[in-house]
Parts: sequence; C-alpha cells; structure tokens
Amino acid sequence: MHEVHREITRWIEPLGVTVHVDAVGNLRGIYPASETPASRLLIGSHLDTVPNAGAFDGILGVVLAAACLEALNGEKLPYAIEVIGFSEEEGVRFGVPFIGSRALVGRVDNDLLNIKDSRGISLRQAIQDFGLDPSQMDDAALHPDACAYLEFHIEQGPVLDKLGAPLAAVEAIAGQSKWELTFQGRANHAGTTPMNLRFDAVAAAAEWISGVEKTANGTPGLVATVGSIEAKPGATNVIAVEARLSLDVRHRDDAVRERGVDRLIHQATEISDRRHLQVRSTQHLNQPAVVMDPSLAAQVEQAIRKASCPPHRMVSGAGHDAMIIAEKIPAAMIFLRTPGGISHDPAESVIVEDVAKAIECGVHLLHQLASDTTFHPRTCRA
Ligand code: HGY
Ligand code: MN
Ligand code: MN
Repeated sequence: MHEVHREITRWIEPLGVTVHVDAVGNLRGIYPASETPASRLLIGSHLDTVPNAGAFDGILGVVLAAACLEALNGEKLPYAIEVIGFSEEEGVRFGVPFIGSRALVGRVDNDLLNIKDSRGISLRQAIQDFGLDPSQMDDAALHPDACAYLEFHIEQGPVLDKLGAPLAAVEAIAGQSKWELTFQGRANHAGTTPMNLRFDAVAAAAEWISGVEKTANGTPGLVATVGSIEAKPGATNVIAVEARLSLDVRHRDDAVRERGVDRLIHQATEISDRRHLQVRSTQHLNQPAVVMDPSLAAQVEQAIRKASCPPHRMVSGAGHDAMIIAEKIPAAMIFLRTPGGISHDPAESVIVEDVAKAIECGVHLLHQLASDTTFHPRTCRA
C-alpha cells in the first residue's frame, strides 16, 4: 500500500494536488477551487482488493479520478475536488468491509479497532504497523465543505456487456449480509467409524450449502454465497470435528434479504439438530441497500449522453464505498462495462475505449456541477 500511495502521489501532485494519508490509511488529494468559500466534490474508490484479483476493481476508480483532473488541463472549478483512495473496502483481512470509508463518516470505533485478523493482529496494531496513529481517526472525517461523492467502478457483472453499453448510472446498491457459521461435530477415525455413528461437521455443512443454493435459486433477485470453508483438524483420515463457513447474502430489497438470511440460519439449526451436532452463527455485517442521490444520478446520466453513450441505469449487486459515504453526503456511481462479466479474478478486464468514454463523461459531469447552483457551499449540507 505504501508503494501504491507513492505511485498515485507521483501522478497527481504534478496536477496541483496536495496529498496526505489519513489515520486509517486512505490516500487523500485536494485539487483547489477557483474561488473560496468552495464546496468539495470527492471522487475515488478503494485501493485494496481480494486474493487472486483482477487489476481494475477499486483502483480504476482512483485512476479515473486522476485522469479527470488531468483532462481539466489545469482548469480550476468553483469547487474543490478531493481524490480519495480508500485503504480497505473488501473486508478480506479483518472480515469487516468498508474500513476506509467508515472513517469518513465517523464509524471507526474501538470495537472495530480491536478486531483481529487471522494472525491475531488487531486493526489498531495494523494501522500503527503501517506508521499511522489511530488516535487521530477524527481527522479522517469528511471535510465540512464536502458536498458530494462520485465513484467510477467496473460493473463486475454481465449487464452492460450484454447490452453493449460502455457506461451506466448506478441508481442503487444492493444490501448485503455477512455471516460466519461453525458446525461442531465429533472427530473420529475415517476408517473405523461406521457411517451411522458419525457426527461429521463437513457432511452437515455440505447439506446446508446445497440448501443455500436452492433457497437463493428459489428467491428472485437473491444471491447467496459460501465463499470460504475451513475443516478442522483438516486431515484426510479424520472425520471433521468442525466446519467454519462464510455466508454472503445480497438483494436490492432489505426485507427479502433479511428473510433469506433467517431461512438459511434456520436451515442450519434444523440440519445440526437432526445430525446431533451444534451450530454457531455470527453476523459480521448487515449493510442496508442504499439509493444513490437522484439528482446526481440524473447529472451522471446527462454526462453519459454528452459522451455519446446510451444512458443506462442499474442497481449494483456489488457493495461499494459509495454506500457508506451516502450516509453523510449525496453519492453517485458511474459503472464501466466488464467484458464477460468476470470480476474478482485475474480475467477481469475493461475496454480501453470505455475508459476513454468514462473520462469524457467525467469531465462533462465536472462542468455540469460547476454550473449547478445547488452544488455550492451556501446550499449543500446547509
Ligand atoms: O463484495 C463486494 O461487493 C465488493 O467487491 N466489495
Ligand atoms: Mn471487490
Ligand atoms: Mn470494488
């Protein structure tokens, strides 16, 4: 992450941007306004990613923020622009996502700082190891003049690819639930224990996982994923005493998502009771769906048209920092087509012409906001 900070700083400082790293490791660069007082538009995304990832999820949004500033060619606008690269969005290391953007809305508290990673290192310790001071977390809060947030991001799904459309305005972001379930059985010898005398945690987990898929298939718009499984003791000739699983459930409608989660947790209890095992389930995240700011989304749509692209509106199945920042200021997202709909994999890609269109659209949007009287310090966050 230090290397990424150095590289992006090398790109944006020559554009007249003043860069600093905040107490949670977000990279923050200010491009000054032509006048004061001035409101502030944040443009950015996350710098972290998932294991064995592609090269565009998150980072493309920070690169496009820099590219839009570069395309201004030194032109100043009646508002400041803050380029932001969030330090942690995916939740890979600590099991809780959006740590970077939570700091901007004041949601990095002691409970979060005390969470430990798989090696027992707390978030607080990790921040200190990076050379930062977690006690300065308040300084990471949104600037009082911050009026809106814009995030460019790859769609990470098949919709725009199927439509043959380069860009889309995001109208809402699906809500997501993250859980951890542990089936607890009894270890025994794989060779000597008859099938009817087993308390096999992995067999119970496997029955539940097929139920997860069936439940999601049977609920329109619901997606449910068991992305990680850990069997203990994990030897080939030992019946597993424990199976630890992740559960990720998403839907655009929070009531449908929460009903789906309730059914899956109930199914886990039913399976473990019938097999005379135990099951523990812990919720790590209940992130409601978030609607993007309608007037900003309309501005995005207008800018997409000006870039001579068909305006398409859609809901994001993936979670984004925009859903956290939207708690405090209006937020909007611009999606770029993901060829083949492949993401969170090295095969993730973008089409260069789409990236050029995104920059063109971004510059149109910056100029539209410059003449949008609602987007000025006197009115925004009044
Ligand atoms: O999981 C997600 O939706 C995103 O990649 N953080
Ligand atoms: Mn991601
Ligand atoms: Mn992302």
